[in-house]
Amino acid sequence: MDSYYVTTPIYYVNDAPHIGHAYTTILADVLSRYHRLLGVPTYFLTGTDEHGQKVADAAKKAGISPLEHCDKTVVRFQELWERLGISNDDFIRTTETRHSEVVQEILQDLYDRDEIYRGDYEGWYSVTEEVFYTEKDLVDGKTPEGNTVEKIVESNYFFRMSKYQDWLIEKIESDPQFIQPDFRRNETLGFLRKPLGDLCISRPKSRMDWGIELPFDRDYVCYVWFDALVNYISAIGYRRDEKQFSEWWPATCHLIGKDILTTHTVYWPTMLQAMGVPQPKTVFAHGWWLLGDAKMSKSKGNVVDPMAMSEQYGVDPFRYFLLAEMTLGSDSSFSEDLFITRYNTDLANDLGNFASRVTKMIHTNFDGEIPAPGEPGEDEAALAKAVLDAVAAVESSIESIALDRGIAAVLGAVGEANRYFDKTRPWTLAKEGKREELAVVLYAGAEALRILSGLLFPVMPEKMSELRRTLGIADDSIVPGIDELRTWGGLEAGTSLGEAAVLFPRIDARKDDAAKKGQAGGGKGKGNDNKKAKGKAAMSNEATKDNETEGVAKIGFDDFTKVELRTARVLEAERVPDTDKLLRLQLEVGDERRQIVAGIAAYYEPEAIVGKTIVIVANLKPAKIRGVESNGMLLAAKTGDTLRVVTADGEIASGASVG
Ligand code: MSP
Repeated sequence: MDSYYVTTPIYYVNDAPHIGHAYTTILADVLSRYHRLLGVPTYFLTGTDEHGQKVADAAKKAGISPLEHCDKTVVRFQELWERLGISNDDFIRTTETRHSEVVQEILQDLYDRDEIYRGDYEGWYSVTEEVFYTEKDLVDGKTPEGNTVEKIVESNYFFRMSKYQDWLIEKIESDPQFIQPDFRRNETLGFLRKPLGDLCISRPKSRMDWGIELPFDRDYVCYVWFDALVNYISAIGYRRDEKQFSEWWPATCHLIGKDILTTHTVYWPTMLQAMGVPQPKTVFAHGWWLLGDAKMSKSKGNVVDPMAMSEQYGVDPFRYFLLAEMTLGSDSSFSEDLFITRYNTDLANDLGNFASRVTKMIHTNFDGEIPAPGEPGEDEAALAKAVLDAVAAVESSIESIALDRGIAAVLGAVGEANRYFDKTRPWTLAKEGKREELAVVLYAGAEALRILSGLLFPVMPEKMSELRRTLGIADDSIVPGIDELRTWGGLEAGTSLGEAAVLFPRIDARKDDAAKKGQAGGGKGKGNDNKKAKGKAAMSNEATKDNETEGVAKIGFDDFTKVELRTARVLEAERVPDTDKLLRLQLEVGDERRQIVAGIAAYYEPEAIVGKTIVIVANLKPAKIRGVESNGMLLAAKTGDTLRVVTADGEIASGASVG
């Protein structure tokens, strides 16, 4: 790849930023950072859409000019992106002359070449979506998205979009990369089965004057979408700086949400074709963040404020969660519980725990210096393979934009690394004074951590910098390059480690009071959910499952009786889709039916567990694991690569108490 140019949609400037906006921008950021890591020259653009009826209305309400209103509100996006560590190269506002002048030149050129003509318009208009609809597009008198429309009859200017219909169908059919994922491509092709009309690209100023004036008729302004789409080329020097423009265009990936598919895969390509500009390489439409079953949006008043989330839980965990949780292309539900579960599982228990195991043991046993790699054996080779496979998986996920898969592969390798320690038991080697063997294990562990932290660097730049510094990686190598990640054995023996801090303190969802005291920042956000969450969760500084700690804390009998153990019969079992580890089990517990999710899929085929009488913790608070409700936890014994579910010895009724 010679160069990479990634864009987000430009956000309506007077919207309050929510996690839907944050998601696209973080996705673009992480893709940019991965491409830079691959050594590909990269340009990342975001910005704001500042014209149109809604901005005009909001400014009027506030009693200020539209531009003043934009200047005030744009700051919310700019501050949020700074807060979230977004590495955009440019931020375009459609009210800037570098943009509006280019739009006017394009309009004039298209008008001169009869691509734009004057005609009469009669139809329906949605102010919310800033989109025109014909009678047949409406569903029960509203837009397909359910927004109200108003009738418009007026003289206007039209772009001859219809004449490009056959060309566009042919382009989409012959270029599978052009619209992704596949099912969105089919959606656009479905849309194009109906005759395509011409596009009304003007608004009479008498009705709405907040927009770019048509150069050939001063009584009109440009339709906001026609104006907005041009940002993707005006920002990189179209008609101004040929060198800059040809450096980035058309090596483009437009990231969008599924609701703006038609504007990006019908309006935009036909506009470009009329202008004689090559088509972008890819338009990728992701799904929506939902709250319950509803799309998060300002008009519904159900938004989650990204600023408040990042203040409460930290920027990097928030970035991680959004990317890891959403299967690219599909919708995803957001909930604070889901966030906490994923944080505790992936970051606190798996990655944080492994990092703390490696670094603490090197500090304790080798004076904080990376030991010599020694003679690696089969286990080390298997670990190296698992880690290097994760590198390959991340590379392929960058190519396919499905970063959630790459991230899952990295976490899979972190799991392998933890299992490697469980198997090689470095704490026992230390106790027995087997220093050479211990050196082999700790070197391999540190090396795995070096590569895995590099792979996660684009997702969590701050936290992974911290971890890489702890590993003794020099400042100029903190930002990784792909070559060093593809090679096992990069750490040098004798390098001094930095301080080992707890990277991801566990969030204890029960520590209500501690939460109120221990909140970072205090969350300015207005999102109801965040307010709720403040009293619900707290970061604790306890290390997670710290296996190297000698001696286990003793508990009293009373503590034990708090745990309600019961027998349960497994009635049904199935894999949780899109996961490697999870089985969903339907249980009979006495008279009750309940569902639990268990991380045993790597050890049990679903059929093998059905019919068994197992033991569960019956009084755990329900949790959602990967969006699936789990009402309890089964007991299992684990050593090295072996895991066995605890079962009753012989016949016993389900629901019986175990103690
Ligand atoms: N201004 C236009 C885009 C012009 S691009 C030339 C616009 N702006 S928007 O602010 O309403 O939306 C911007 C993006 O945010 C869209 O891609 C939209 O899909 C996305 N999201 C808005 N709500 C969303 C969710 N609840 N979930 C995920 N993304 C969603 O449209």
